Amino acid sequence: MAKRSRNFVCQECGAVTSQWAGKCVTCGAWNSIVEEQDEQTPPATANLVSIKGGKGRKANFETLKTETRDAPRIETNLSEFDRVTGGGLVPGSAILVGGEPGIGKSTLLLQVAAALAQNGAPVVYLSGEEATAQVRMRASRLGLSEAPVALGTETNVANIVSSLSDGETPALVIVDSVQTLWAENLEAAPGTISQLRGCSSALISHAKRKGYCLVLVGHVTKEGQIAGPKVIEHMVDTVLYFEGQSGHQFRILRSVKNRFGPTDEIGVFEMGYEGLAEVANPSALFLSDHEENSPGTAVFAGMEGTRPILVEIQALVAPSSLGTPRRAVVGWDTNRLAMIIAVLEARCGVRLSGHDVYLNVAGGLRLTEPAADLAAAAALLSSLTETPLPEHTALFGEVSLTGAIRRVGHSEQRLKEAAKLGFSRSILPAGNDAQVNDGGMERVELSELKELVARFGPFDADMEE
Ligand code: TYD
Ligand code: MG
Repeated sequence: MAKRSRNFVCQECGAVTSQWAGKCVTCGAWNSIVEEQDEQTPPATANLVSIKGGKGRKANFETLKTETRDAPRIETNLSEFDRVTGGGLVPGSAILVGGEPGIGKSTLLLQVAAALAQNGAPVVYLSGEEATAQVRMRASRLGLSEAPVALGTETNVANIVSSLSDGETPALVIVDSVQTLWAENLEAAPGTISQLRGCSSALISHAKRKGYCLVLVGHVTKEGQIAGPKVIEHMVDTVLYFEGQSGHQFRILRSVKNRFGPTDEIGVFEMGYEGLAEVANPSALFLSDHEENSPGTAVFAGMEGTRPILVEIQALVAPSSLGTPRRAVVGWDTNRLAMIIAVLEARCGVRLSGHDVYLNVAGGLRLTEPAADLAAAAALLSSLTETPLPEHTALFGEVSLTGAIRRVGHSEQRLKEAAKLGFSRSILPAGNDAQVNDGGMERVELSELKELVARFGPFDADMEE
């Protein structure tokens, strides 16, 4: 009889050790190690010897040529969802949708399921977390009760596979959530790493064989990493994150891995009483409350995937009563803020070490582009000097550690979007292609951060003393 191996598996990162420990040596998480029994035993050394003997079956090799240029797609008619997936669902592919509990994953996927089903495609929705009555209540709230979606609550993988094998193959199968799946031959509890891996890989290979699109929903922990589901990211074709800030109604679906389309593409939704509504023009939405002439705000002309988006960056710089002043950031990278503050201090003579600094990206968007540096610096300087930026100004540009302002890509698209929304002036890196069509905006080209600082008046290094 095969000997069962005993493994201790970190539930955060999936690292396997032979002993229990309070802290995972790989990812540093505390109390995350759980004993799991693994059905698969590694092959005995005797089997490995046969590699030398060349006894295996010959594999087939093929050419790279293909008849079909693009993967076939099933459009869902939710255009923001289709945009993020790269044009619709690909049959025989697997998508992981991650997000914090309560962000709206079930709502989004029920809307996707209903939209497809209403187009005549067979859709299966497996809810392991909620009872059918709860899903029905949500459907009626969304006005989707009539959509012919096949609803189930099965979580046993063997049962799911056999239910999907008979009869018509569905076009789309949604599993909500992957943490509720379990397989009898794995002894660990549902939600553990070995159950996650085993169940997901069984379902994914079934989806590929049968040619349906599989959507796996996975919960993310507070740290922002998919706990558990992180370990299945490499198995799926597409990884989407659904994010937003509590208290904001905006939700952003972001693609971080996509074997069939672009990454970094975002879809913007607004959570309302009747579910998620698509936001076709996010710039207008993110700028809707923007007040001109208020110090501490700057409008950043950003890019999210292939789409230009204008967002307001807000800063508050106030004298600190603390020994170590506070730096708090929402929607941007804390390290990036520390870097901008350091460059302002070291290269431009602007003292911020005696000030608390708060930075916020309006509307609940999370910016990842270095091109936001210049707008963030402008917001900080504007708040520090209580001087508003000139009206209708949009900014973009990366700040380097030397204090130089570096060029960034897609300047034409950024400027066009700004012009479309009524901006008449742009502050941008010098040498950004002169031919760029910017709709006749006034341009202020900067090559050093110092030049921006000079626009806010003279800064004496001893000013704050
Ligand atoms: P849900 O889809 O259950 O989140 P998840 O599956 O990611 O855990 O959505 C939960 C939140 O969305 C809940 O707090 C209520 C809110 N909501 C609305 O505001 N409007 C709606 O129409 C629906 C269905 C949910
Ligand atoms: Mg849910």
